[in-house]
Amino acid sequence: MSDAKIEPAKRLEGRLRVPGDKSIAHRYALLAALARGASRLSGYPPGADCQSTLACLRALGVDITSGAPGVVTVRGEGFGGLRACTEALDAGNSGTTMRMLTGVLAGRPFVSVLRGDASLSGRPMRRVIEPLERMGACIESTDGHAPLTIRGKPLRAVAYEPAKPSAQVKSAVLLAGLQADGITTITEPAATRDHTERALVAFGARVAVNDRTVSIEGGQLLEAQGLSIPGDFSSAAFWMVAAAAIPGSRIEIEDVGLNPTRTVLIDVLRRYGAHVTVQQSHVEAGELRGNVLVRGTGAGNLEITPSEVPGLIDELPAIATLAAREGVVTVHGAAELRVKESDRIAALVTGFRNLGIHAEERPDGFTVRGAGAPAGGTADAHGDHRIAMALAIAALGARHSSTITGAHAVAISYPGFFETLPTLRA
Ligand code: S3P
Repeated sequence: MSDAKIEPAKRLEGRLRVPGDKSIAHRYALLAALARGASRLSGYPPGADCQSTLACLRALGVDITSGAPGVVTVRGEGFGGLRACTEALDAGNSGTTMRMLTGVLAGRPFVSVLRGDASLSGRPMRRVIEPLERMGACIESTDGHAPLTIRGKPLRAVAYEPAKPSAQVKSAVLLAGLQADGITTITEPAATRDHTERALVAFGARVAVNDRTVSIEGGQLLEAQGLSIPGDFSSAAFWMVAAAAIPGSRIEIEDVGLNPTRTVLIDVLRRYGAHVTVQQSHVEAGELRGNVLVRGTGAGNLEITPSEVPGLIDELPAIATLAAREGVVTVHGAAELRVKESDRIAALVTGFRNLGIHAEERPDGFTVRGAGAPAGGTADAHGDHRIAMALAIAALGARHSSTITGAHAVAISYPGFFETLPTLRA
């Protein structure tokens, strides 16, 4: 399925689960591969990005088997269990796979080549190369882009302060730090998702966290674990905004991750005027989870400020849809969106205009101005899973049916998205 046809919706209603959290799954797979023993991961997402991480680990000699749907067993033998791969490791479309694996391979005593698809090959990698080279690794790139040739070396600990907040960079440095001589410290300019810190602790490592500074001592051993992965809040976000924007809608997401570094959207939806009820169920491996119910009241205006952006980075395409029919949504300080799976500012604004929605772009953000139900039309996902989903949600508020071209991009994080959509029409 490459095109998806979207019919307008009067109201949405339903209760559902979303695929497992992509960020957490990458981390559990990597740490399980570096631990000693068999780790059983359940709720492992079917999306292509998380499968790319498994494929790279298998290519590095890690024994990984799949059982029942979503159950993956990773048999790790410690860092020493990774073996050189004569062919390039393919991270596909996954920035998290490439950046985190670079941190792991930086300290392995062999040469690895990491490549990705056309989108990933255009994304900036200097942000991981620079700190890892400071630690002693040798990484060749083409002008800061993949493919990366990583000549692993003995690493020394560093104290690193990245210029931009990035959980992927923080994670790459921590994974290298786990192999380094001494205590590696990273201080971020703004808080980012902390799944790596929590996952390291779950696998038995000691990690010190003090405000925006994280430290890890090299040479620690990880132990295999049995872990389950909560639903992905960033996938749930598309249903949450859809319910919020269409008055009378009611959608409940079950067993979704509620890590506070990921759930800023809940505050944003309340500010917009939606009724959001959060029912926390339990904490597993340091990750809070539970159910979220969103009841829609329709339009409000929203202004997203630069300080909110790190906590909403993956939700901004979903947030844009809140003004598809009515109200105004403005996002500032989000230039980082231009180097995601697509240039998300350009892709959103172009797509929205093609659906008949008024949208303007700026270098670091965009404004969407609702002017009543748009006509609908044909809009392209630009190969980007979150753009495909945002355009589909925006199209629900249109007067006529719309077509999203390149809709298969949802397979990166949410393969069943277009099958779930019709089940939520009330
Ligand atoms: C991710 C971090 C974020 C996010 C990406 C997943 C992660 O990227 O946008 O989808 O799992 O660490 P940055 O670290 O580049 O901000």
